[in-house]
Amino acid sequence: MKITLHNDAKSHTSSEFIILAAYSNSKEGKKAQTSKAAMLSTDRKEIIAAYEQVPARNYFKGERGENFLFTGSQGVQILAVGLGDKRKTTLEHIRRAIADAYKQAAQRFSNVSIDLDSFDTKQLAETTAAIVEAIGMTSYVFDKHLSSKKTPKLQTIYLDTLEKKSHTKKIEEVIKQSLIVTDSIALARDFVNEPPNVLNSEVYAKLIEADSKKLPGVKIKVLNKAQMKKEKMDLFLSVNDGSAFEARLVHLTYTPKKASSKTKHIAFVGKGLTFDTGGYSLKPADSMVNMKFDMAGSSTVYGAFRALALLEVPVKLTCVLGLTDNSINSLATKPDSIVRARNGKTVEILNTDAEGRLVLADCLDYTSELKPDAMIDAATLTGACLVALGHETCGLMANNDKLANELLDAASQANERMWRLPIFEEFSNDIKSPIADLKNMGSNRFGGSSKAAAFLQEFVRDGISWAHLDIAGIGDGQGHLPYCPAKGASGLVIRSLIQYVQSQKA
Ligand code: BES
Ligand code: MN
Ligand code: MN
Repeated sequence: MKITLHNDAKSHTSSEFIILAAYSNSKEGKKAQTSKAAMLSTDRKEIIAAYEQVPARNYFKGERGENFLFTGSQGVQILAVGLGDKRKTTLEHIRRAIADAYKQAAQRFSNVSIDLDSFDTKQLAETTAAIVEAIGMTSYVFDKHLSSKKTPKLQTIYLDTLEKKSHTKKIEEVIKQSLIVTDSIALARDFVNEPPNVLNSEVYAKLIEADSKKLPGVKIKVLNKAQMKKEKMDLFLSVNDGSAFEARLVHLTYTPKKASSKTKHIAFVGKGLTFDTGGYSLKPADSMVNMKFDMAGSSTVYGAFRALALLEVPVKLTCVLGLTDNSINSLATKPDSIVRARNGKTVEILNTDAEGRLVLADCLDYTSELKPDAMIDAATLTGACLVALGHETCGLMANNDKLANELLDAASQANERMWRLPIFEEFSNDIKSPIADLKNMGSNRFGGSSKAAAFLQEFVRDGISWAHLDIAGIGDGQGHLPYCPAKGASGLVIRSLIQYVQSQKA
């Protein structure tokens, strides 16, 4: 599907379907309107005329979520999407409205016009970004394993504006950038949705390697098991002991064109469990289903990393991904094992299902060594995060208030839900073991997300600002958002991470 900006669009490009905004209180309706009906803030006389011929328009108030379909000249279908009070309309309202409108059009029309000028033109760039993001995220399908695919009829979406081409260079750029973002979200979703018999650690590392070759300023290093052993990553490798596939540590670096010693360096770390059976602390059958999703942290940070590289941000980036599955054979790690981490601390493994923190521990220590200005990990780490914050929210834990607040700000700008949980000293005390330096779970299941974070914190070197994003809830199953599939990977949090890096001063 193509998204094309159409300048100087005196009449609409599509003769099939037109989407335009309607506000409940628009003062800018250009033509006479009846007092009862919502304002269509469009300049196109023929649309206003068609609208005024439909008596039922009097029942359309243009409230948020309220849509009104009518027929224009030569049978064109016109969908007015209600956005409510113009002063209170947010980009998220636009994203959701466009997602709903896209779904109405996708199977019925081959091309569609969106009347850009009908939206609040004071922030046209931001509005265009929200529209393109919504289309990009909503049009995603994971159908590669379906024998008969339901290909959408929709081929082209025109963004119509009366503006001359010379005035819309920025808008063209915004469209391109937003498509980079949604393409990266789609790739991340694909990785997560791919089943575990197809995508194992070795395959996953190869796919990332192939994709990263297309990125400007990016270098990649993939450590195999022997190299990880040399790096003393025994804690990570203990998770891989029962697997038929070798663990992989993927280390990506992006260097901006104009890098200097002052250039900021931000590091991402991602949990990449291509499948989590729980190991010997085996998951019950029902909880094991969908554990292909346990690599969403790695896909999320890789998605953000790749978009930021393509956007050529002036920030140095590192992205470290810990890839393995958590499986069982006679060599698999048994509960009660004590293993030494890369940073020298010993860990009593009481539950082999608390494996993500073991993988991340060595990855965080490895990444700490690069001395980034900030280090952010993402992981589907704890079921407890779902209990605490629901499916709708990303859990945030951090050792640094400034970094935590910057991430919360970025998430709020991206309209993604993120909420901070504490890492109290009591939690750190609860993961101490009498026979090793640490144990891999607390003494009870309460405060499970924070205790997991307290564990991770033990592997962040002194002086490093670090934040941990628990995406166990928000990473999939976002049926309440019209631009996310009801089932499968959400691709959320990628936009927050992009926003965070973009807001950093070079
Ligand atoms: N990958 C799971 C966490 C998870 C659970 C993510 C459900 C998404 C949905 C993680 O490896 C795990 O099993 N955590 C355990 C930790 C416990 C044994 C301390 C959990 O949350 O039950
Ligand atoms: Mn687990
Ligand atoms: Mn897991």
